[in-house]
Amino acid sequence: MNKKKIKEIILKKNKSKIVCLTAYSKSIAKILDSYCDIVLVGDSMANVLYGSQNTHKISLENIIQHTISVKKGIKNSLLVADMPKNTYNDVKTALKNARLIKKKTKCDAVKLESNSKNFNIISELVRKKIAVMGHIGYTPQFKKKFKIEGKNKFEINKLIREAKLIEKAGAFGIVLECLTPKASKLITSKINIPTIGIGSSVNCDGQVLVIDDLIGLSQSKLKFVKRFVDITKLIETGVKKFKSEVLKKQFPKAKHSFSK
Ligand code: KIV
Repeated sequence: MNKKKIKEIILKKNKSKIVCLTAYSKSIAKILDSYCDIVLVGDSMANVLYGSQNTHKISLENIIQHTISVKKGIKNSLLVADMPKNTYNDVKTALKNARLIKKKTKCDAVKLESNSKNFNIISELVRKKIAVMGHIGYTPQFKKKFKIEGKNKFEINKLIREAKLIEKAGAFGIVLECLTPKASKLITSKINIPTIGIGSSVNCDGQVLVIDDLIGLSQSKLKFVKRFVDITKLIETGVKKFKSEVLKKQFPKAKHSFSK
């Protein structure tokens, strides 16, 4: 467990915002490392890399391989690996798989989604010195339909209870996915660990986005996504130039060729 980095992140609560992005490869991780407090190898790789409709088919091996790659680009950020669906159904399985992820990837922490019951899994992992990040609200591994949560008092109170139990279990932070601004604000004010929001307004201690959405590599139309740059256009420019030069026999030139 990287206690120092985790402590630094917790200390940012109420002081400065926490910056988190997903990464799935060394080259992207290397760029993010200078700017992010946390780099997450999310199971969102299912959608953005593997073209799946949901995250359910991502395996432990997928997460391990991509985290090994990301780790090679990380020097400063806290590296968190998602635990895939069905890899933490009970304490024994969770412990075995979290240990395997940590051993093979040397990541700093794992993230697991809450099903409103699995708090004992978090506490057991933490007891065994594995740092854990929680995840509440829209939890794609458990919820069939996308829904904004925290729209009424009943839902907000349930989410606050869940966040408090995750904190009590020993998690160092919680992702809040697709919650109303009111729910995010209340949860964030009622727990002492940082909340990292995605689609949950500015009322969180930090923000996370899927990197492919931020750079315009995905065609995401989700309301909470902001495309900060359009890398697709840049790639197209390069590929068009390459094609044109290949067809006109302008590439490769002598300087790109070996004489001996
Ligand atoms: O898998 C993922 O990328 C995530 C983020 C949306 C928080 O869990």
